[in-house]
Amino acid sequence: MKKTIRDFDLLDKKVLIRCDFNVPIKEGNIVDDNRIVESVPTIKYAMDKGAKVILFSHLGRVKTEEDKIKNDLSPVAIRLSELLGKKVKFIPVTRGKALEDAVNEMSQGDVVLVQNTRYEDLEGKCESGNDSELGKYWASLGDIYINDAFGTAHRAHASNVGIANNLPSGVGFLIEKELQQLSILDNPEHPFVVILGGSKVSDKIEVIKNLVKKADKILIGGGMSYTFQKAKGLNIGTSIVDEESLDFTKEMLTKYSDKIVLPVDVKVTTEFSNDSPSHIAKVEEIASNEMGLDIGPATVDLFSSILDTAKVIFWNGPVGVYEFSNYIEGTKRLLEKVSSSSAKTILGGGDVVAASSNLGYKDKVTHASTGGGATLEYIEGKELPGIAVIDDVE
Ligand code: 3PG
Repeated sequence: MKKTIRDFDLLDKKVLIRCDFNVPIKEGNIVDDNRIVESVPTIKYAMDKGAKVILFSHLGRVKTEEDKIKNDLSPVAIRLSELLGKKVKFIPVTRGKALEDAVNEMSQGDVVLVQNTRYEDLEGKCESGNDSELGKYWASLGDIYINDAFGTAHRAHASNVGIANNLPSGVGFLIEKELQQLSILDNPEHPFVVILGGSKVSDKIEVIKNLVKKADKILIGGGMSYTFQKAKGLNIGTSIVDEESLDFTKEMLTKYSDKIVLPVDVKVTTEFSNDSPSHIAKVEEIASNEMGLDIGPATVDLFSSILDTAKVIFWNGPVGVYEFSNYIEGTKRLLEKVSSSSAKTILGGGDVVAASSNLGYKDKVTHASTGGGATLEYIEGKELPGIAVIDDVE
């Protein structure tokens, strides 16, 4: 068992907390603040216990100077100040005197947020490469390290593994909650029904391999369903296809024909746009100039009848191009179904959680994970380095 933030006396301690504030930001505005909201309980707890709270997070990927401007973390400090009801001091650098002075000037209950840790990637990938000097340097700023960045737990970077190697460490309430809820999927009650969407099969091969053994049914929607349909020999027109995964999908369809359920109808159009004319087509009737961008009503009914039987439901990836209002219906109707189900319902992965939050279903499911890749790696049964490195309870 891993230590948690509750296992430490935080009074007057400098507590370094790694959060995952990797949130979508457009023109300086935060589009979805879910990950920031979910970080609040741990930060508030540390403040209330009299800690000096120093927050770290990455944002996006930083490979050029331009990426730095695009991925400046300061909008998060503003949103977090609102959520905490206390000003979060933003430090626009990742090392040096300005950071060290700010830390030394802190009083109990103060919070500072350090600039995007991936600014350290520009010269020598120090953050993403888990540079040991960088991990040591950041650790030297504090007394205790708390990892609460579940979404980043599948990475071994300087700001999670590197710092933890140099300080007493524990997990925060968000990681604790994620592990507790996702463990429902370790030995799920049956019937266990999985919904998988998103565009690429290749990103999810390991997850499919793992889930197909445990699940009673896997309902496949979204862009990835066309690779399965093509593997079955159907004409999918100009729909997205992941050619490199055709052999894998054929193998899955042969081995698990009783478990894998594919759409029977889809909403098709001729251009990848919200505005071009669309209609519902049976999957056998997609014209060669048409692409499918959502599941159709007969598929919603078919999937719903299977979901009705479930005791546990796990859903990763939207079943249509939900960013387009004309292709959101399938995802919306399944969210409606899942959120009113008496089954334990777990949403994993960024897009389906974002859709559930925008459409008002997020609080009606058992758990909406803040992880994308991390949640999938957990389900694949992989060790998450950001959690493995944390001290065990003695
Ligand atoms: C995520 O959004 O999945 C995490 O924040 C990790 O981001 P990364 O894939 O850029 O490492």
